[in-house]
Amino acid sequence: MKVFVSGGAGYIGGVVVSQLVAAGHEAVVYDNLRNGHPDSVPSAARLVVGDVGDRAKLCEIFAEFQPEAVMHFAASIEAGESMRDPAKFFRNNTANALTLLETILSHKVRCLVFSSTAALYGDPVSIPIRESDRLLPINAYGESKLLVERMLGWFHRIHGLSYASLRYFNAAGATENLGERHDPESHLIPIILQVASGLREYVSIFGDDYDTLDGTCVRDYVHVSDLASAHLLALHALHSRPEPTQLIYNLGNGHGFSVREVIECARRVTGRAIPAVVEARRTGDPAILVAGSEKIRAELGWTPQYPGLEQIVRSAWEYIQRGKQGD
Ligand code: UFG
Repeated sequence: MKVFVSGGAGYIGGVVVSQLVAAGHEAVVYDNLRNGHPDSVPSAARLVVGDVGDRAKLCEIFAEFQPEAVMHFAASIEAGESMRDPAKFFRNNTANALTLLETILSHKVRCLVFSSTAALYGDPVSIPIRESDRLLPINAYGESKLLVERMLGWFHRIHGLSYASLRYFNAAGATENLGERHDPESHLIPIILQVASGLREYVSIFGDDYDTLDGTCVRDYVHVSDLASAHLLALHALHSRPEPTQLIYNLGNGHGFSVREVIECARRVTGRAIPAVVEARRTGDPAILVAGSEKIRAELGWTPQYPGLEQIVRSAWEYIQRGKQGD
């Protein structure tokens, strides 16, 4: 299949593109390289530097490449930042997604796999969260993605678009060649490992007064390779069904770990002390986000290969040890 991948030079997109080309698909990565890295794109894929907001350039690439499917990763992703600069999220995530959707329709592309998020749920009504649960984001990031899910629903209904919306819980871990390289880094596991590597003095714990077992926020960490494999399953499901199809799935392991538990795990994996300091809460953080992924397991046969937190943290640590980070 010919697949157009926006944001394919980023952390999750890069791993998906590697799996796509390994499975024999043809991929064009479209990335503005503001957060992506050209060396994350495998040599078997073509990289086009461009912005999803650039309608003319999108049209040019669609006309030339004639994709059969689109995967849309390009987005601003930090929930904390979205509470300081919401316009950036509504521009990059919502407005640009509409431009991409219009391009998809005008070029008669039938299938789309969309990177959605657990942030849609806000403070969940019950744990584990199910896809049918209430959607009530508590940060602008989640709202910016929820608006896209709503648009997708209408494009499916009105134009027959087939799409999968994959609601990621906390992507983490690394493959042999690809790991998290955000600049500046804001995600918990890479920050903890920067402390373990001596690049930072300590990790800040953003709040220890949440209503959780040890007072710190609880998240469901999913290995990036497992997230990636779900994308290929979704792509095949959409492609193989001739009728307009709508798939909405949570991608989590169903186990929550508190910030303190993640730090403890990293201490075991790395054998380093990893000092931690409790600080104020970060605005827009739900206390707990843990997913039920029974739906995608049952319907598409998704089976995570690295479900354990220790496996996830170890893969990220080994990636750093191999000296690939920041190359
Ligand atoms: N945290 C700290 N200290 C840090 C960094 C994070 O205590 O230095 C805490 C956060 O407050 C949060 C938890 O660790 O409670 C995880 O934070 P991350 O920044 O690693 O991830 P988030 O849960 O905020 O968000 C991530 C992605 C989003 C996605 C979400 C889904 O960035 O795009 O997971 O759960 F939507």
